[in-house]
Amino acid sequence: MYKKNPFCILAVLLVVCFASTFVVAEQLKKDISKTIVDLPIHFKNSKIVRTVDLRNTIAREEIGIRAENIHQQPVDEYYLPFPETYDEKVAIITAALKQGSKEQLLVEKFGFDSERHIQLYKITFPQPIQPGESVPFSIKLVTTHTLTPNPPVIPQVARQHVEYNNNMFMYNLYGADESKTTVVLPQNANVITFTETTENFSRNGNKLVYGPFTAIHPLIYTAFHVHYEQSKPLLAVKNLVRDVQVSQLGGNLAVEERYPLRHEGARLEKEFSRVSYQQSIGVHAHTNVLKSLTFHLPSSARDVYYRDDIGNVSTSNLHYEPSGAVLEIRPRYPLFGGWNYTWFHGYNADLSEFLRYNKNSGQYVLNIKFVENAKTMTFDHVKLNIVLPEGASNVEVHAPFEFDGVTHSTHYTNLDTTGRYQLTLDKSNVVSEHEQFIQITYNYSSISHLQKPLVASAAFFLVFALSIFVSKLKFTIGTTKVIKKME
Ligand SMILES: *[C@@H]1O[C@H](CO)[C@@H](O)[C@H](O)[C@H]1NC(C)=O
Ligand SMILES: *[C@@H]1O[C@H](CO)[C@@H](O)[C@H](O)[C@H]1NC(C)=O
Ligand SMILES: *[C@@H]1O[C@H](CO)[C@@H](O)[C@H](O)[C@H]1NC(C)=O
Ligand SMILES: *[C@@H]1O[C@H](CO)[C@@H](O)[C@H](O)[C@H]1NC(C)=O
Repeated sequence: MYKKNPFCILAVLLVVCFASTFVVAEQLKKDISKTIVDLPIHFKNSKIVRTVDLRNTIAREEIGIRAENIHQQPVDEYYLPFPETYDEKVAIITAALKQGSKEQLLVEKFGFDSERHIQLYKITFPQPIQPGESVPFSIKLVTTHTLTPNPPVIPQVARQHVEYNNNMFMYNLYGADESKTTVVLPQNANVITFTETTENFSRNGNKLVYGPFTAIHPLIYTAFHVHYEQSKPLLAVKNLVRDVQVSQLGGNLAVEERYPLRHEGARLEKEFSRVSYQQSIGVHAHTNVLKSLTFHLPSSARDVYYRDDIGNVSTSNLHYEPSGAVLEIRPRYPLFGGWNYTWFHGYNADLSEFLRYNKNSGQYVLNIKFVENAKTMTFDHVKLNIVLPEGASNVEVHAPFEFDGVTHSTHYTNLDTTGRYQLTLDKSNVVSEHEQFIQITYNYSSISHLQKPLVASAAFFLVFALSIFVSKLKFTIGTTKVIKKME
């Protein structure tokens, strides 16, 4: 028989209490994680015309939409859903009106629907669309890492094929009266397989045309795939670091870029064979091997260097064209699928090519590109460090796109007293569309111009004075005496 022990009762009560709070907390967690975003269906897509451009090693989509306001009130917000796994690959999403001003439209991340695993975006029209009225606009989408080498492993001398999978329709909330998707493949590419529909499908050279299809339901996802030859290497830079240093006194812009490059194409089936490599030189252009990369530098570029982890790489070629300097880099070894190569290169250029003084604002404007030479590769992450002269203040960045992070800090070098101003810009998923000019405006007074030479001359003077002083000292064997003399 159990005695009625008060401690026992207390313990049981405590356990019950803990258990119930735990259950409540778990329930709360579930409620929070399950976000269903309820969106008003105020539009109907009358027509969607979509082009998926696969001519290059990344996918670019252009979507033309005619949307009709089916609400009783004027509406200015159009919502776009993206499956979660697709959203991670999006590097660019922009929208523009198709008529009149062809104005760029504001596109913002709106919310995440964790129930349906959908990331929502909101497009805002400059003027509300009246009931019954239609608005034609276009959406541009660039995604990275959407091509998968298939087979993933190939012989050293073989053609690379890739597979692309996506929705046959533009994924959308509103459905569509009519929709057509055209897939553009590389010219003359050998196509192994592709999805074909029984109705309304046509193939025209390097174009696959799906549609027109009518009465498309909202949120419909019909998978299609295409498996084709893509001989170009699939190049991704994991983390590009670009250092740009402004030296206002010396009129110099120093640029250094560090590239951890990865070839994400089909990997080698067997060990690399140099003999086979030499013998197949004539057909290298049809394989995915990367032998060189071309970098366009400013016309005033000088002191150009190119080094990797081992040291200087001599197999580079610099020449000057009317448009600027051209640096051709040959990696130390030919780069095959799955291989990495890390190097850095840099140069000095005339600052006057990039910096101007705006008399109206009393500020300096540094005009540089966020990334350069991005045509053949994508960047999973870019970190751009801009070091401004000591004494720069009121620093602001102006760019045609948003950054993931903007950090203001201080960079110290020799002879700096207060340290230089460093601006760091971070962005993930960067493609050649981001190869655009950005402006950094800042205040810089003539006194700060003198700060460094003043520090330098003060330092020289100190050394000079000290050397006079030391030369006047009479050194004797007893150190204590010297110290006494110094007093
Ligand atoms: C095929 O296209 C015709 C018009 O060109 C259209 O009437 C028909 O509905 C389409 N088929 C499907 C399945 O959408
Ligand atoms: C590397 O090249 C630069 C000039 O391009 C030269 O100044 C430097 O001494 C070289 N370093 C080595 C280790 O060869
Ligand atoms: C290349 O780099 C990636 C990380 O970016 C790493 O996972 C992979 O193992 C590297 N490959 C080789 C062959 O070193
Ligand atoms: C920057 O310079 C302009 C013009 O000289 C001046 O009007 C402004 O107040 C300055 N801003 C700061 C933060 O110093």
